[in-house]
Amino acid sequence: SALSPPSHQALVVRALLRTSVQERKEILEDVEYNIFAFPAGLVTCDYLSDSGTSAMTDVQWAALIRGDESYGRNWGYYCLLDTFRDIFERGGNRLYAFHTILAGTTTNEFYRSKLLKPYKDSFVNGGPHQLESPNFFIVPQGRCAEFLLFSTVKEVMSESPPAENESVPSVVISNGFFDTTGANAAAVGFVLETFTQPGLTDPFPEHLFDRQNLFKGNMDIAAAELYLDEHPGQVALILLTITNNWAAGQPVSMANIRAAAELARRKSIPLFFDACRFAENAWFIHAFEAEYSNKSIPEIVQEMFSYADGFTISLKKDGLANMGGVLCFRDEALFTRRYKGIGLRLKERQILFYGNDSYGGMSGRDLMTAVAGLYEVTKESYLRNRIGQVRSFAQKLRANGIPILSPPGGHAVYLEMNEFFYGCDRQPGDFASVGFTLELLKEYGIRAAEAGPFGWQWDKQTPENRGKIPNLVRFAVPRHVFSDEHINYTVAAIKQLYNRRHTIPNVEITRGRDMRLRHFSCGMRP
Ligand code: F0G
Repeated sequence: SALSPPSHQALVVRALLRTSVQERKEILEDVEYNIFAFPAGLVTCDYLSDSGTSAMTDVQWAALIRGDESYGRNWGYYCLLDTFRDIFERGGNRLYAFHTILAGTTTNEFYRSKLLKPYKDSFVNGGPHQLESPNFFIVPQGRCAEFLLFSTVKEVMSESPPAENESVPSVVISNGFFDTTGANAAAVGFVLETFTQPGLTDPFPEHLFDRQNLFKGNMDIAAAELYLDEHPGQVALILLTITNNWAAGQPVSMANIRAAAELARRKSIPLFFDACRFAENAWFIHAFEAEYSNKSIPEIVQEMFSYADGFTISLKKDGLANMGGVLCFRDEALFTRRYKGIGLRLKERQILFYGNDSYGGMSGRDLMTAVAGLYEVTKESYLRNRIGQVRSFAQKLRANGIPILSPPGGHAVYLEMNEFFYGCDRQPGDFASVGFTLELLKEYGIRAAEAGPFGWQWDKQTPENRGKIPNLVRFAVPRHVFSDEHINYTVAAIKQLYNRRHTIPNVEITRGRDMRLRHFSCGMRP
């Protein structure tokens, strides 16, 4: 097969502290065995999250220096507006803002550009000569965009309830809610319904590993439609998470996005994306969906977003930035017709809680790194290397006989823990997979996160929902950070633990069992 050359090299290097098993053991006790609280400086390989953990490129660092920290209308604001239009809408003038900013074009030339003219049905209205962009909201990170969206929809709905014989929509449906997304929707009173295509943990034939992908992140359209038929008028939004982080970072196909959009139109319900890993998703479409092998990543991204009424995005993933988030929606679409006046309410809330609308809680330099990052992340050479590293990690685990969810998704490799513990008599409520992460951290300084009965709160679910919870441990791979050395060390460590899996302890919750998002802050004990 054709060789794939490397896509980048390291520029800045950080040395890792060497700590002993005994030191890590003591610190684990100090932090009540909560891996989120374990000091990162003592971790050798940190797979806790791919969010905000990317190493930036030289171009991003260059852009950072060009950041403008003004209180009103910093120029990163215009750059980000322009970039969003470039990346997510058809007909953008690719790289304009980016080249302009890096080349040090005078502000006068920049502001006179006609690129940001408002146009119909856009995610990014407003331009240099206008007071504001009424449908584009910068926030500090993804969950703030979620809070802004769900709380404001709720508020607008409760102020203008439907006619007497109609019910107030109280449900959000999705192919999979990320933990903060689900928690934000639930916290303002929405009921969540998840329709992931069945078969997430079904085995996948090894010989097809590198050639096919099942798009296991898809929404189960038939099940969603049945639900909508049985609950007319009750669904406020359809949210498609791409890639599907709830379903092990699995991609969603263009066909599925299109089908979800058709369903949403037919039922007159706005379709939003949780677009955190949109570029990785586009790569899977390019690589594995027949009609798209000849389309470029930017073209695929633009088609994907042509089906959405709006989206939330954390720039900490496929923005390749360390911080940032955005909420935007089409200015003249279903969403604004259905929730009248929502734009102004969102703006009010954004300014109250996060910051004025041209920075929304982000520093000017972070805005600039996201601008550069969004262009870098949509390059095919970057994505080939990125997805390639995750897949090669997965392949090495398989070659060592370690059960993983396959094929691997975009940003992480997941161990299949029911298979891992096969024959060891572990029950979901034993939280043995948490025990595995504690052993891995103590013995090898490797941090991974349980995404199973503990994280998804098996003990607090109805028997029906319990059945839907997979038993996984996630190794999220930070972008541009690890080399084969890290991956090989990790595979060898997992192998050693696998060989003595009978000795891995179960874990109990000692404090904070009933908190929302408890995995971040509860206490535990092996
Ligand atoms: N949506 C998805 C699909 C996510 O994966 C995340 C974060 C968010 C929303 C929230 O974004 O962190 O910027 O507020 N996921 C990270 C993870 C934290 O580790 O998977 P945020």
